[in-house]
Amino acid sequence: MPVKSYGLLHGKRGVIFGAMVESSIAWSIAEAVHREGGLMVLSNAPVTQRFGKLDELSKIVGDAPVIYADATSQEDLDGLFAETTEHFGGPIDFIVHSIGMGLNVRKDKEYTELNYDWYHKTLDISAISLHRVVTSALESNSLADGASIVTITYIGAQRIFSKYSEMGDAKALLESIVRSYGYRLGGLGVRINAVSQSPTRTTAGQGIAGFDAMFDFAEKMSPLGNADAESCADYTVTLLSDLTRSVTMQTLYNDGGFSGMGMSDSTIELITQAVGKTEK
Ligand SMILES: NC(=O)c1ccc[n+]([C@@H]2O[C@H](COP(=O)([O-])OP(=O)(O)OC[C@H]3O[C@@H](n4cnc5c(N)ncnc54)[C@H](O)[C@@H]3O)[C@@H](O)[C@H]2O)c1
Repeated sequence: MPVKSYGLLHGKRGVIFGAMVESSIAWSIAEAVHREGGLMVLSNAPVTQRFGKLDELSKIVGDAPVIYADATSQEDLDGLFAETTEHFGGPIDFIVHSIGMGLNVRKDKEYTELNYDWYHKTLDISAISLHRVVTSALESNSLADGASIVTITYIGAQRIFSKYSEMGDAKALLESIVRSYGYRLGGLGVRINAVSQSPTRTTAGQGIAGFDAMFDFAEKMSPLGNADAESCADYTVTLLSDLTRSVTMQTLYNDGGFSGMGMSDSTIELITQAVGKTEK
């Protein structure tokens, strides 16, 4: 559904991490930020220079500079914030952290058989990177008064989705960092929130075994159906705007109502058919 511009981010400048290809949630966020009048720097891991399409996205969103940085490297992040504030000639108003990767999940390693080196890497990329990003931005005085930070999470942080495995732990840590840093950023007039998104067909999403079943189950359970990447982007721009200036430390659901549900008629029908019984 095409959305008109409300000019919500007019005059705002920031960094968006995690756009790789068109399906990336951060790709839709960059387009929505551009639509709302915001200016941005785009960033992703250096390895994505080989297969990502950041240069293409840059053109779509007004020739935004592309600065590659590994979000697990403090040195890379420090360089990124130095370049970003130099580019804009001052501190920034928003950061979008849309980064995640589950190494054991990708390689179908069960939760009881985790490779601990990969587990560390998963937590480092998917959660601790948010801490690093915020720390680097603070230490370089890169955040303007009233700045807003948004990260993207999944309800697997709070409830068990069996195949989500180690990523549930990573998202639980991510949401905890949002609260812990949120408290400390408040005194600086900076806020931070997590958007908990429906299953979405992206590279990271489809790397999870059982993704299609998770997607279909959520679709049947959610009164509004699954939220797509574009709606996540629209919700995110409201959180980057001044309209939400008193909202911080929250996990906010963009999930079509899934998180409020226990059972729906369509899942009852599905299970009834599957077990071959007739409902009264
Ligand atoms: N797709 C879903 O179903 C879904 C649902 C809820 C939350 N999320 C979350 O949304 C976020 C974005 O994922 P997506 O679904 O758009 O998939 P995606 O694969 O398009 O995006 C993940 C991004 O993380 C980047 N990344 C990985 N390692 C990095 C590193 N070391 N440094 C910098 N960047 C790195 C990747 O290059 C990629 O751009 C993730 O946090 C993901 O967990 C996804």
